[in-house]
Amino acid sequence: MHSTIDSPKRKKESSVAEAKSREQWGSRIGVILAVAGSAVGLGNFLRFPGNAAQNGGGAFLLPYFISLLVLGIPLCWAEWTMGRYGGKLGFNSAPGIYSAIWRNPVSKYFGGIAILIPLVIYTYYVVIEAWCLGYAFKYLSGEMNPDGGVDFSVMFNEFIGINTDGVLFTGEHSLIYFVAIAFVLNFVLIYRGISKGIEGFCKIAMPIMVLCALCVLARVLTLDAPADHPDQTVMNGLGFMWNPDVNALFDSKTWLAASGQIFFSLSVGFGIIVNYSSYLSKKDDVVLSGLTSASVNEFFEVCLGGLITLPAAFIFLGAAAKDQGTFGLGFIALPNVFATMPGGQLFGFIWFFMLFLAAITSSVSMLQPVIAFFEEGFGLKRHASAAFLGILTLMGSGFIVYFSKKTIAMDTFDNWVGNFLIYMLAMIQTFMYGWVFGINKAEVEAHFGAHIRIPRFVQYMIKYVAPVYLLAIFIPFCWTELPKFADQLRENDTARMAVMFLLGVIVFLMLLISIAGKRWQKDGRYALADVEAGR
Ligand code: ALA
Repeated sequence: MHSTIDSPKRKKESSVAEAKSREQWGSRIGVILAVAGSAVGLGNFLRFPGNAAQNGGGAFLLPYFISLLVLGIPLCWAEWTMGRYGGKLGFNSAPGIYSAIWRNPVSKYFGGIAILIPLVIYTYYVVIEAWCLGYAFKYLSGEMNPDGGVDFSVMFNEFIGINTDGVLFTGEHSLIYFVAIAFVLNFVLIYRGISKGIEGFCKIAMPIMVLCALCVLARVLTLDAPADHPDQTVMNGLGFMWNPDVNALFDSKTWLAASGQIFFSLSVGFGIIVNYSSYLSKKDDVVLSGLTSASVNEFFEVCLGGLITLPAAFIFLGAAAKDQGTFGLGFIALPNVFATMPGGQLFGFIWFFMLFLAAITSSVSMLQPVIAFFEEGFGLKRHASAAFLGILTLMGSGFIVYFSKKTIAMDTFDNWVGNFLIYMLAMIQTFMYGWVFGINKAEVEAHFGAHIRIPRFVQYMIKYVAPVYLLAIFIPFCWTELPKFADQLRENDTARMAVMFLLGVIVFLMLLISIAGKRWQKDGRYALADVEAGR
C-alpha cells in the first residue's frame, strides 16, 4: 500500500490534481485591477507626497523613476513570472513556489520572508485603514465641523491614542470599533476568495477611487489663497512640491527614500504579486498585465497623490507643510484645508473614504499570501485558514492598538519589516529570478501568452544591475538607519517589546514552514517541479 501511494506516477498525479484544483482569477482585467488595488494605497496618497517634499521636491523624481525602471518594473515582472510558474507546478504560497523553483532546503525559508512581510505589515496597516474609516465617519456625522471649534491636531492625537498606551482599550475611544469594522471587512473579502472576494471588490473599488480622487483634485486645484497669505496659492503649492532641489540628489537618503517608496508603493518585495500571479493559468499574459498594473499605480501616485496632498497642505500652512510628516499631512493639514473651503465636509468625506478604499484593497492583498500558505501547507480549508490568520493578526493589531503612545510600536514594525525586510526580499527575488531560475529560462517563461515583449536587456538588468543597485542602497541603509533603530531599542521598552514580538512571529512561521516542507515532500507535491527540472 505504502509503495503505491509513494510511487512516482501516483505522486505526479497528485501533484497535477493539486495544480488543477487551484483557485483562478475570473478575468484578465480583474487580476490587473487586483494587483493595481494592492499597489494603490496609503503609500500613494500620504507616503509619496511626504517623501517627495522632504527629499528635494521635483529632484526626488529622478531617483524615483530610476528605481522604478531598474528595480520596480523588472522585479514586478520577475514576481509575476515566478508566481505563474509556481502556480503551474501546483503551489500558491511563496515558500512552496520558491522551493519548487529552487529545490534546496533553504529556499522555503526565503519564501517565509514573503509570508512574514505581508502578515506583519497588515497588522499595522489595518489600523491606519481604521483611522481613515473613522475620519470618513466623522465627516459624515458632522463631527469635523469647524464651527464646533475643532483643533484637528488635538483631535487626531486623541483619536489614535498618541499620548498614552492602553488608552484605546478603555472603551471611551471610538478607534477600536473602526479597527473591528476594518478587520471584519477584510476577512469577509478574503473568505469569499480570489475571484468573488478580492477581484469582485477591486473591480468596484478602483473606479470609485479614481472618481473620488479626481473630485478632490478638481477642488484642490481651484482653491483660493487665504486672505491673510495671498502668496499661498495652489500654483505656488505645486511649485513647492515639484520645484527641484538638486542638492538633494547628493544625499544618499534621497535615493534610499525613492527606492523604498517604489517597493512600498508597487507592493514589490511584499510577497503579494508572486502569490496573486500563481492563480493565473499558464497561458495568461504576465508582461503587459504587470506593466499595466504598475502604470495604474504610477498614475495614482504621481498624477493624483502628487497633486493633491501637498499643494493643498501648502495653501493652509505655507512652507511648514513640508514638516508635517506623512500622517500630519493627511490627518491634520488636510482637515484644516477642508474646514476652510466651501463644501469641505463633503470633500473631507470623499477624501477619507477614498483613502479607506485604497487601504482595504491593499490590506486584503496582504492576507491572501498567508491564507494560501496555511491552505497548502497544512491542507486547511479556507474558513480554518481564515480563522487561524484572524487570531494571529488580531494579536499583532492588538499589540499596535494597545501600544499606541507616539506610534512607537507601529514605527518599529515598519522600520524592521516595512523597510529592512522589504530590501532583503527584493534581493532574494532578484537572486531567485536572475541566478536560480536563470534569465534564459525566465525569459521564455515570462513570454508564454505575453501580449508584448520584455526587451532582452531587462533580463540582464535583473541579473546584474538590480543586485548591485540594491546593494548600493541597502549598505547605506544599514549604515545610516540601523544605528538609529538600535538606539531606539536601547532607549525604549515598547520598541524592544515590538522587536521581541517580531522575533516570536519569525520563529513561529519558520517552524510552520519547516513542517509544511516535510508534508510537501512526503505528499509528493514536488513531482511536477522535479519533472520540470528533468529529475
Ligand atoms: N502598496 C501599498 C501602498 O502603497 C501597500 O499603500
